[in-house]
Amino acid sequence: MSTVVIHLSILALASASTMVFTVPSEPTPGSETLDAAPVALSYEFFQFPSYFTNVSHTWGCSAQLQRLTGVWPRIRIGGTSEDRATYVPSLSEYVLYPGDENTFSGPSNFTFGPSFIELASKYPGTVVMGLNRGGDNISNTIDAAIAVVNGMGNLYAIELGNEPDIYPYTGFAIAPNPATWTPVVEAASEASWQIAVGSSFTFRQKRIIQAGNFYGSPVNFSAAELIQNENSTAFPYIKDFSHHNYPQSTYFIVDLPSLMSHRDIVNNVRTFEEDVAIARRMGWEYVFGETNSVSGGGSNLTSPCFGSAIWLLDYALRSASVGIKRNYFHQCTIGICYYSWWDRGNVNAPFYGAYVATAAMSGGAYISALDDGTSNYGGYVVYDASRRPVKIVLINSDYYTGNVSRPSSDFVLTGLEGKEVIARRFTAESALARVDEGRLPAFGGQYFVNENCAIAGHKIIEATKVVDGTASFNLAASEALLIELCV
Ligand SMILES: *[C@@H]1O[C@H](CO)[C@@H](O)[C@H](O)[C@H]1NC(C)=O
Ligand SMILES: *[C@@H]1O[C@H](CO)[C@@H](O)[C@H](O)[C@H]1NC(C)=O
Ligand SMILES: *[C@@H]1O[C@H](CO)[C@@H](O)[C@H](O)[C@H]1NC(C)=O
Ligand SMILES: *[C@@H]1O[C@H](CO)[C@@H](O)[C@H](O)[C@H]1NC(C)=O
Ligand SMILES: *[C@@H]1O[C@H](CO)[C@@H](O)[C@H](O)[C@H]1NC(C)=O
Ligand SMILES: *[C@@H]1O[C@H](CO)[C@@H](O)[C@H](O)[C@H]1NC(C)=O
Ligand SMILES: *[C@@H]1O[C@H](CO)[C@@H](O)[C@H](O)[C@H]1NC(C)=O
Repeated sequence: MSTVVIHLSILALASASTMVFTVPSEPTPGSETLDAAPVALSYEFFQFPSYFTNVSHTWGCSAQLQRLTGVWPRIRIGGTSEDRATYVPSLSEYVLYPGDENTFSGPSNFTFGPSFIELASKYPGTVVMGLNRGGDNISNTIDAAIAVVNGMGNLYAIELGNEPDIYPYTGFAIAPNPATWTPVVEAASEASWQIAVGSSFTFRQKRIIQAGNFYGSPVNFSAAELIQNENSTAFPYIKDFSHHNYPQSTYFIVDLPSLMSHRDIVNNVRTFEEDVAIARRMGWEYVFGETNSVSGGGSNLTSPCFGSAIWLLDYALRSASVGIKRNYFHQCTIGICYYSWWDRGNVNAPFYGAYVATAAMSGGAYISALDDGTSNYGGYVVYDASRRPVKIVLINSDYYTGNVSRPSSDFVLTGLEGKEVIARRFTAESALARVDEGRLPAFGGQYFVNENCAIAGHKIIEATKVVDGTASFNLAASEALLIELCV
């Protein structure tokens, strides 16, 4: 594979606007520490065995992320179907349900066996396992939790229920009435389950529960609310706190220009910032335990498009820069999951966004945003453990449909050291480009082969001179740039 290095002279391009970002020479007090693998995956519970035994890209593409960070992407197994699962110790199948129920919401109830837990235990990364609370059979969930804790050396945490705030609307036995399923009542349920499950292990297994897992905005159901309402006897069992986050919904709003807009991303992530700070005071990490572009399985019109890859990149970096430790991007029913990173045929555009986000944060120790989120133009800086800036991401989130000439913007970085920086450009024909229509994104000129997720194509590195600590870059609408500082 050959590499082409393009040397860019000082830019003389006319562009719509110029952004100037100053790069602090070390992490500023507001910087956040980075997880080793902040870009993670969530697999819908009943689909987990299929993804791992019958979809080859799961291994091929996960390995691409592993090569960047040195650790396998973290996973969470859960979703609506976690609250419909009954554990049957004598079952030989991974999961068993009658008929072909590969619908978006999956089978209305089904069983899983020890082989499911064994399959999860063999995954070389950490696993959060979602267990059933909505079905209201606590003895069954305790049996499952004991099998999970005893069987999985890679266990990170256990969830007790998926999106319990909306149980009355999703039809779960434990919460039949929306009027009485208040944050106070849900917190009492959550605490009693945490205490019952957490105290049931033969050895003293503290800090095992990923709490919350709420769907709605943190206005009503939040870490703040849980801390206030829960029985504090449950606190020692809680390891971390998860909120779900889908900026858009198939049922309410699907709008690609808004999804990918940097300003809108900043506003979306900002709604969680106060809750992150409150959870931190309890010593809890805050994660987006299930997230993606559009709830309800995604939108075929927007979720597979390159604009959603730009969203994913910007969103992963923004959430990391406000202290959200990990994003578990949800993968739903194979074949009808529009935001999925891959399926049996293609490596979809959102995976490219995940790859670039992972590349940007890999090896990093601190991250901070370079902009205040008031425009469509974003920037992030990543520092290494010795507090030196090592990578910068620039994003032009203007929506480009491909049918007029492509506008661009200049980004000027000041405060740089050295004489030159190198960069890889993340681009596609337009924000609407999608892999299933044969229009692949490119990162540094390269792409993922649809057959096996291998990297192919000539690598293109752009070299830019730094003069008096300043360098400028031109980004077309719907484009991003990963800059590596030569330290
Ligand atoms: C694997 O996937 C194919 C579809 O490509 C399906 O027909 C088959 O039943 C699946 N096998 C298992 C064991 O899930
Ligand atoms: C689960 O499915 C079985 C049949 O497969 C049915 O008998 C049972 O009532 C169902 N349970 C619930 C809670 O829906
Ligand atoms: C709860 O699960 C256990 C198996 O763990 C089963 O024996 C029992 O019948 C279940 N209870 C209900 C009410 O479904
Ligand atoms: C919060 O709860 C109130 C009262 O149930 C409800 O009217 C409101 O819509 C909820 N807000 C959000 C953001 O979920
Ligand atoms: C908290 O939980 C403990 C253990 O289950 C229980 O003994 C105690 O009564 C509970 N406190 C309240 C206020 O419910
Ligand atoms: C989704 O979009 C693709 C590509 O445009 C198309 O081939 C497919 O039929 C669509 N699927 C559905 C369910 O609309
Ligand atoms: C550009 O293309 C998009 C999507 O195909 C279409 O919705 C839009 O109307 C077009 N705009 C112009 C200016 O032609």
